[in-house]
Amino acid sequence: MKKGKKLYEGKAKIIYATQDKDLVIQYFKDDATAFNNQKKSTIEGKGVLNNRISEHILSNLSQIGIQNHLVKRLNMREQVIKLVEIIPIEFVVRNVATGSLVKRLGIEDGTVLKEPLIEYCLKDDTLGDPLIAEEHIYAFEWANKKEIEQVKKMILRINDFMIGMFRGIGIKLIDFKLEFGRIKMNGKNEVILADEISPDTCRLWDSITEKKLDKDRFRKDLGDLIPAYTEVAKRLGILHEQSNVSAVNVTKLSSVKKKIK
Ligand code: TMP
Ligand code: ASP
Repeated sequence: MKKGKKLYEGKAKIIYATQDKDLVIQYFKDDATAFNNQKKSTIEGKGVLNNRISEHILSNLSQIGIQNHLVKRLNMREQVIKLVEIIPIEFVVRNVATGSLVKRLGIEDGTVLKEPLIEYCLKDDTLGDPLIAEEHIYAFEWANKKEIEQVKKMILRINDFMIGMFRGIGIKLIDFKLEFGRIKMNGKNEVILADEISPDTCRLWDSITEKKLDKDRFRKDLGDLIPAYTEVAKRLGILHEQSNVSAVNVTKLSSVKKKIK
């Protein structure tokens, strides 16, 4: 598949055109940002791990009937995806209260929620992705009721599946963020899961030690982000010793390159 011109560059990924107007290439960068781009860094090897982890989760979701944009992974950093029109909402799903929720409402950190909580944020970096109510979505026509009903059903199934998948490998799924996009399939307008699902977009705690295995290691300056993401990939069974070594080598190689420069 030939990579065409750059269509869009986000904080962690780049989208390129292909010769097929319905397909694009999603490239996973090593850039990490937090707090709406106020904190920035490059963490060598992060893109490689997120590409693999997201591919694994999205292909498993596809097997349980959750339609999503993934077509196939191309290489270490790229995957072919279906071009969708992204709904400008970040859907945050919470099973345990932490992060912005506890700051905003004064809830005790680590409180287990009786039911999964879905929050909506407007996807707008200049505004800092503000929290919005479902009513705002309809008032400003960011999505319609039918789309949101469809999305909510998908979210609950995705959450159930992911809780079980992570529980099986000794990880608690605390919360995560999803994005959805519009696409025409067989002449029908559909809403499908898009973007990525990775330790950049989830909070994952070790079930026993509660060690953070996600981007909070960067947000909170805890260090050892690559070992944590590698641990998630290994437990998911997608990093064999060989590819684990190559992920580490990516890191080593680039630090060698830096030293040479
Ligand atoms: P929060 O507690 O900071 O609102 O984050 C909730 C979840 O959403 C957490 O798993 C991290 C994820 N998230 C993103 O993936 N992108 C974002 O821009 C934000 C704010 C959160
Ligand atoms: N992705 C957001 C940012 O880049 C926030 C976050 O993940 O914490 O600022």
